[in-house]
Amino acid sequence: MRLTMDTVATFFVLTIFSSTHASISNFAELYKETEDLIRLSETYQRLENNNEYFTNFDPNKKPFDYGTFDFIVVGAGTAGGVVANRLSESSFKVLLVEAGPRNPDTVSVPALGGYFIRTPWDWGYNTTVQENVCLATIDKRCIYPRGKMWGGSSSLNGNHYTRGSKWDYDLWAEIVGNNDWSYENILPYFKKAEKAMFKIDFDRNYHGFSGLQCVDLPEDTPGLTTMLLEAFKEKGSIELDYHGQSPYGISRVQNFLDGNIRAGTAHAYIRPAADRHNLIISDNSLVTKVIITNNRAVGIEFVKNGKLYFAQASKEVILSAGAINTPQVLMLSGIGPLQELKKHGIKVVKDLPVGKNLQEHVGFFAPFFRTNHTYYNLTLKEQLNFWYANKRPMTSGAGSQVISFTNLKNNTYSRPDIELLVIGPRFVSSTIATSNRFNEEYTAAYQILNEYTDFAISVNLLHPESKGEVTLQSNDPRKYPLIDLNSFSVEKDLETMYQSIKSLLELQNTKAFKNFKAERLFVAMPGCDEKYKIDSKKWWYCALKQVAFPGYHPIGTAIMGADPCNSVIDSELKVHGIRGLRIADASIFPVTISGHTAAPVVMIAEKVSALIKAEHRD
Ligand SMILES: Cc1cc2nc3c(=O)[nH]c(=O)nc-3n(C[C@H](O)[C@H](O)[C@H](O)COP(=O)(O)OP(=O)(O)OC[C@H]3O[C@@H](n4cnc5c(N)ncnc54)[C@H](O)[C@@H]3O)c2cc1C
Ligand SMILES: *[C@@H]1O[C@H](CO)[C@@H](O)[C@H](O)[C@H]1NC(C)=O
Ligand SMILES: *[C@@H]1O[C@H](CO)[C@@H](O)[C@H](O)[C@H]1NC(C)=O
Ligand SMILES: *[C@@H]1O[C@H](CO)[C@@H](O)[C@H](O)[C@H]1NC(C)=O
Ligand SMILES: *[C@@H]1O[C@H](CO)[C@@H](O)[C@H](O)[C@H]1NC(C)=O
Repeated sequence: MRLTMDTVATFFVLTIFSSTHASISNFAELYKETEDLIRLSETYQRLENNNEYFTNFDPNKKPFDYGTFDFIVVGAGTAGGVVANRLSESSFKVLLVEAGPRNPDTVSVPALGGYFIRTPWDWGYNTTVQENVCLATIDKRCIYPRGKMWGGSSSLNGNHYTRGSKWDYDLWAEIVGNNDWSYENILPYFKKAEKAMFKIDFDRNYHGFSGLQCVDLPEDTPGLTTMLLEAFKEKGSIELDYHGQSPYGISRVQNFLDGNIRAGTAHAYIRPAADRHNLIISDNSLVTKVIITNNRAVGIEFVKNGKLYFAQASKEVILSAGAINTPQVLMLSGIGPLQELKKHGIKVVKDLPVGKNLQEHVGFFAPFFRTNHTYYNLTLKEQLNFWYANKRPMTSGAGSQVISFTNLKNNTYSRPDIELLVIGPRFVSSTIATSNRFNEEYTAAYQILNEYTDFAISVNLLHPESKGEVTLQSNDPRKYPLIDLNSFSVEKDLETMYQSIKSLLELQNTKAFKNFKAERLFVAMPGCDEKYKIDSKKWWYCALKQVAFPGYHPIGTAIMGADPCNSVIDSELKVHGIRGLRIADASIFPVTISGHTAAPVVMIAEKVSALIKAEHRD
């Protein structure tokens, strides 16, 4: 049976995708590209600005005319890819402008995402110096990856498919005063996007079957996945589909997966639409400004190969540059907080709280456990062969095994406050230290991790009270925006994580863990171990501040709401007071989501496409 499935999957890859993914159908090519990617990521110096677009740039030259389009979509990322596909299904003329290039074929292998965060396909951002998080890094600044290619961050993320809970959307609807955003009313857009491919039981009422977005479960890690399910069940959890009636239980993790292929927006939406004659894609193009005359967006300016271009939009401009770059482009266009615009000498078009309300999850790859099993002791070549046969480790974006949503107080009627994600072998290793730029002491401490035997329970805080901000360094589009997460500035956030860790540690006493010989592995926490008793509350607070890192799920920087005093867009995603300009990406969320953000971004993009089509008939 297994053999047949595998053969079918490989056949599928070879025939269906050979036209667009040339190197996937050729093992030798894919292997070489993968080796090159890994080598590049090991030595790569991350970018520090946008200078690359401006070589031989003449600031006194008038912009070249790039033509007129019905719609211009800024950013071919997670949201932008969906919007461009849906709008170009009609006869509209659509321009999609992306700062990065077309995604390389190695994006198809989910596990390679982690390498892309140290290549030119990532923006290479850091946060500003933080006071309460990322303290184990060399400079107290968290790395802050963002995809810069077709598919945007969906081309390099952890590939987890989570929509958030019904309570999140009901709260969203309440806050923006519009019931169109209630769970009941947005569920159809999740279904519209989805093509569920699960081979095990799931809650069919909550899934879609004919969308463009394939969702599946990577195969199990032999023995480990089921052991973890058993352990949670021993502690009283019910095994269920977390997208069904209730999220409270234990489940295998749903992924953006088409067979063995990462089904990010590039694969699901952009490549299938790229040959349409009414969709023009200009990549390697940095959008510097939305041009606004008489409070109407009339087009955009972008820089490509040292030349400035102007493209005109006869209907609308849709900004989908993501929660860090959308606020930057807005501010450069004169839309933002008055003080911030004045500070950088930018002419004020509209005073709105752009960049405020930055909210972000924080995650913690701990506690660690060691099993007496050895997993995936395979060469790169062998791992790729496994991948062709739909087997881990490379079918999974982050090595995750099982997922559990929990609420410390009331786990029946309200939002989950913590997500537990168990990260398996080959993804728990000393490279955690290098990719996060840990200092010498912490890098040394993390050498103890064994990538073949160890797993970690990652604890993710879903609704932090701490808020940060995106601001400008300068009015010059060459300069990167400033990202201040301000995580753990509210002590309650630390406490929620601590309480959750305390309760999950009970898993180590289960029969499932004991029979599996899974034991706690203590990793030294310099600066904490010598000051506090290990596992005490103070020790955990200290450890969290040292090694917790952001979830890379920023939201809220162009927040939706009814009142222009404290929001940027209305519930139809239109910028307050400006005609012809909508925002569709992670920056619009008015509330944190109980889960990772990519699936909600796709939902938003499906919804805005429907709104736009209803307003402008072709
Ligand atoms: C390392 C990492 C792991 C993650 N793991 C998960 C996960 O497992 N599951 C999950 O659901 N979510 C995950 N996320 C979060 C999720 O990927 C993002 O929330 C989501 O992809 C954001 O979509 P977006 O459309 O808002 O932005 P993006 O997908 O980032 O798209 C923005 C696009 O705009 C382009 N752009 C930006 N500025 C300009 C400009 N000035 N001109 C032209 N183009 C521009 C960018 O290059 C990019 O392509 C992860 C994120 C990261 C970084
Ligand atoms: C990020 O931090 C690293 C380490 O301090 C530094 O080398 C790099 O220049 C920084 N990049 C940006 C964009 O700030
Ligand atoms: C793991 O422990 C079990 C139980 O003690 C033992 O039977 C098994 O041989 C061990 N496996 C390895 C690889 O050490
Ligand atoms: C992995 O395999 C190699 C070669 O077969 C062997 O030498 C090595 O000890 C193995 N590593 C682990 C952790 O089992
Ligand atoms: C949980 O919340 C619901 C709805 O707010 C409430 O009716 C119920 O009493 C709460 N249960 C507990 C144990 O607090």
